[in-house]
Amino acid sequence: MNHFERRRGELHCEDVPLARIAEEVGSPTYVYSTATLVRHARVFQDALTGLDALACYAVKASGNLALLSLLRKQGMGFDIVSGGELFRALRAGADAKTIVFSGVGKQRHELAAALEAGILQFNCESEEELLQLSQVAVALKKKAPVALRVNPQVDAKTHPYIATALATSKFGVPAQRIRDAYGLAASLPGLEVVGLACHIGSQIGEVKPFVQAAGKMRALFETLCRDGHDLRHLDLGGGLGVPYGDGKTPAAPDVYGRALARELAGLDARILLEPGRLVVANAGLLLTRVLLKKRSAGKRTFVVVDAGMNDLMRPALYQAHHELEPVARPRTRIERVDVVGPVCESADVLAKARRIPHLLSGELVAIRTAGAYGMSMASNYNARPRPAEVLVSGKTYKVVRERETLEDLVRGERL
Ligand code: LLP
Repeated sequence: MNHFERRRGELHCEDVPLARIAEEVGSPTYVYSTATLVRHARVFQDALTGLDALACYAVKASGNLALLSLLRKQGMGFDIVSGGELFRALRAGADAKTIVFSGVGKQRHELAAALEAGILQFNCESEEELLQLSQVAVALKKKAPVALRVNPQVDAKTHPYIATALATSKFGVPAQRIRDAYGLAASLPGLEVVGLACHIGSQIGEVKPFVQAAGKMRALFETLCRDGHDLRHLDLGGGLGVPYGDGKTPAAPDVYGRALARELAGLDARILLEPGRLVVANAGLLLTRVLLKKRSAGKRTFVVVDAGMNDLMRPALYQAHHELEPVARPRTRIERVDVVGPVCESADVLAKARRIPHLLSGELVAIRTAGAYGMSMASNYNARPRPAEVLVSGKTYKVVRERETLEDLVRGERL
C-alpha cells in the first residue's frame, strides 16, 4: 500500500498534487511519501512481533538524511556497507548501537571510523577481514563486536545480479569453513565474537528461501554456541520483495514474520534483519516530463522523457519493470510506446513496448516504485546533474535534496 493516489483524476502524493511539485521543483525529481514510509516501517516491525528483533534499514536502498531520520524515529536501526553510509546514518542521528556494518571489502579507515563510533556489530565476510579488523581494533585499544556472514547456499530464485547465496557468489564465508573461521575470530585479540549473519539476496518473492536459510542458520548458531562461542545476535539480512506491478505478488511481511518466528522459536538470540527495498520502494516515485515523441524507421513510437538511466538505473541494469503513468487524468486512448531517456546509450530504456495512456510532449509521467535503489544508484553520466528529492507530508512537502547544479558537476576538478 502507498499514498500516491488520484484525486479528481490527477496523481497526488498524500495531499500534494505531483504537478505542483514538478512546477516548483522541476523534473526529474524523486518524490517520497512520509505516510508510506512510516507505514512500511510499522508493518515490517509489527510483522516481527514474537521475535526479539531489531530491523536495521539497509541504507543503500535510499540514503537521504531526511529518510534516515524518519526511519530512526520509527525505531529502526541501520545496515551500512561503507564509511559513507556510516557518516550518513550518524549525521541522521542514528544511535551507533543500532548499526551493523556489512560488505565484502571494508577499508581500514572505515573499520576505524565504525569502531570509534561504537557500532553494534561488524558482519565480516572473510578470514582476512577478521585479521584486518583485529589489527585496527588493537591499534585503537578497542574490541570489535563481530559476526561472520555465512553463505547458507540456498537458491533465492531471484535475478542473478541480486542473488547472493549461491556457491559461486563472492559474498560470505562458505558454510564448510565457518567453524574454523569462528575459531580464528575467537583467537584474535581485537575481536569479540557476538553473532552470526547471512543475507541471501534481494527482491525475493517467496517465503521458502528465507525459511530454509533461517533453519540452516539456527542449526549453525546452535553448533557454534556448543563450540563455546557466546553468540547473541542472529542477523538474517534483508531481501523481501515488493510488487512492481508486473503481475508477481511477493509474500506479505506478516507471512514472512510468522514463518521466521516459527523457525526461530525458543532460540536464545536477538534477531537482526536488514530490510531495504521493502521499506522505501513503494514510498517513492520518479517524476519526469515528456520532452518529445518520435518514430523510428521500424515504426516504434518513442516517448523521450527527461529522466534517464543515470537517474534510474534499474531497467537498464536488471531489465527491471517499473509501472509508469501520466500524472494528469489518463486519456482513454492507449498507445504502445518505448519510454526512453536522453542518455546516449541504447540501454537507456525505462519501459519497452509498454501500453500506456496516450501522452503528449510536455506532460508529466510518474515512474512508480522507484524509492529503493533509485536515487541511491543515480550517477552523473552524460554530465547530467542528479535529480532533486522531495519528501511529502500531508499537505506540505520539503526539498530534502536539492537538484545538483552545473557547478556541482565539476566540484573538485581542476584545469
Ligand atoms: N543486507 C545486505 C547485506 C545487502 O547486501 C542488501 C542488499 C540488503 C541487506 C537489503 O536488501 P533488500 O531488503 O533491499 O532486498 N540494486 C538492486 C538491489 C541490490 C541489493 C544489494 N544488497 C536493485 O535495484 O534491485
